[in-house]
Amino acid sequence: QRPGWPARLGPLVVPAGVVRLRPVRLRDGPEWSRLRLRDREYLERWEPEQPGSWRDRNGLAAWPSQWSGLRRLAKRGECFPFAITVDDEFAGQLTIGNVIRAALRSAWIGYWVSSTQAGGGVATAAVALATDHAFTAGGLHRLEATVRPENVASLAVLEKAGYRREGLFLRYLRVQGAWRDHLCYATTVEENGEGVVARLVGSGRAAWP
Ligand code: ACO
Repeated sequence: QRPGWPARLGPLVVPAGVVRLRPVRLRDGPEWSRLRLRDREYLERWEPEQPGSWRDRNGLAAWPSQWSGLRRLAKRGECFPFAITVDDEFAGQLTIGNVIRAALRSAWIGYWVSSTQAGGGVATAAVALATDHAFTAGGLHRLEATVRPENVASLAVLEKAGYRREGLFLRYLRVQGAWRDHLCYATTVEENGEGVVARLVGSGRAAWP
């Protein structure tokens, strides 16, 4: 019913530390909220608009309903809501969402990483681990990521993880008060023979512990 979930992925070593993925937990609330309130400026430019203020949506009180919503979708096999940890500390989220099976076997992937870890290879390692998992235990065939053209860090992550640019979606998502164009990146099983993690390790960007 829900192949590939729950799962614990990694460890993978990058300059920032030891990266692992595990299901989000109710007790991630305090760290989740602390990082997201602190990093508002760094996150808000790239995330889709939601009703309510940033403080209300990211305060400690917002986590239980966020977490239970993600858990409900995960139980239905529609979502893989991972927490990213660096050296066993909560450091961000990676979510595979809108999982559609049947003839499509496709989903989107999205992520954020604490600003204090930026540039340390964490997101790239997380995307590599999640992509390999989605294509093996998860039974998916295609993953898609949509990114604003201005988001150079995220574009670099997807390129390092072997995603291909497929096109430009005009006025795709509402971000910071306007409908923003997004580049669509994707990858399929056929392009990932040895696995994304193995390629990353082979290129010296990550290492097995
Ligand atoms: N100009 C050029 N390159 C940059 C810049 C910049 N301003 N900033 C970062 N980079 C590069 C880094 O040098 C690095 O590449 P390198 O390893 O070749 O040097 C790359 O971008 C980042 O790679 P990682 O270190 O693996 O990524 P990180 O752990 O820093 O996380 C992320 C990247 C997730 C985009 C982080 O910056 C973040 O959380 N941003 C805010 C939220 C966000 O944008 N999320 C992604 C939305 S799009 C989506 O989810 C599909």
